[in-house]
Amino acid sequence: MSQGTISILGLGNMGSVMTERLRAAGYTTTVWNRTAAKTEPHVKAGSTAAATVAAAVAASDLILVVLLDHASVREHLDPVAAELEGKVVVNLTTTTPNEARDTAAWAADHGIVYLDGAIMATPDMIGEAGSLLFYSGSENAYAIARPALETFGTAQFVGTDAGVASLKDMALLSAMDLMFSGFVQAIAMMRTAGATAVDTAVEVEAWLAAMLPHGKALAAIIDGGTYDTGGQNVDFALTGSTSMITASREQGIRADLLESHHKFLKELSATGHGNSDWLRVIELLTIR
Ligand SMILES: NC(=O)c1ccc[n+]([C@@H]2O[C@H](COP(=O)([O-])OP(=O)(O)OC[C@H]3O[C@@H](n4cnc5c(N)ncnc54)[C@H](OP(=O)(O)O)[C@@H]3O)[C@@H](O)[C@H]2O)c1
Repeated sequence: MSQGTISILGLGNMGSVMTERLRAAGYTTTVWNRTAAKTEPHVKAGSTAAATVAAAVAASDLILVVLLDHASVREHLDPVAAELEGKVVVNLTTTTPNEARDTAAWAADHGIVYLDGAIMATPDMIGEAGSLLFYSGSENAYAIARPALETFGTAQFVGTDAGVASLKDMALLSAMDLMFSGFVQAIAMMRTAGATAVDTAVEVEAWLAAMLPHGKALAAIIDGGTYDTGGQNVDFALTGSTSMITASREQGIRADLLESHHKFLKELSATGHGNSDWLRVIELLTIR
């Protein structure tokens, strides 16, 4: 028996896997993709292909959007605003928080029930234990869509501000990018001594695994807001940072990836905060 009817706009790597999951869970699915040929395997597997976005929208009251970016979403949703009135749109396309808010405001103007989503998983993880998706926007949309969304992985509703799911996504991706930049820096330095990238990656992984549990204690210093806990201070961290940059250059490796942190420590030291906990750098990140 069908669990319900869902239309999916976008059959890239992510949209395809999600469609497969929905079918496996018993949903009746209608699919649309700009390159129509990508609907064929889905039709063979039991989905219905829609020739146009409007036809896909007409087929279901719940529409999942898994396109490339904000521009492609608006390119295809704006012309069918009237047909979407009263329907639930869940946009899983990666966007910035303000792009999500912009689409939410547009949806509200057209009587569309809008939920924005952020996928903290790769396509092969969808439906598996480690898959996590954030949602924000309409609680009503979340309540309606939740059983379907839970087929993709753990679903977390993170607030009625439609931008919050994207914000979490971007924040976590920022952490990941900076962490993997660190992997690359270490590998570049160790290659000068003949170590393979994999050998260094194994060592970095073990080192970071040992360090990461300290993260919550460091975060508590930030929440405390006084930066006077007597932990590692700015001047001490600056000495370490200077050594890392010098060592990198001595080995013939550019230190640009290390320099932004160094710059913040220097600024704090120069403005009389040498004895503060080094975590005071967070106060410099706010654009004033
Ligand atoms: N893949 C991941 O690991 C991952 C992880 C988290 C989040 N996401 C997000 O999920 C979304 C989809 O990613 P994906 O991996 O499925 O990407 P993808 O494989 O590159 O597929 C992109 C999809 O967007 C469509 N598209 C692109 N530009 C379009 C336009 N102007 N008009 C209409 N359709 C357009 C493509 O249609 P055609 O087939 O016609 O080209 C295709 O269906 C992205 O926002 C991505 O950031 C992906």
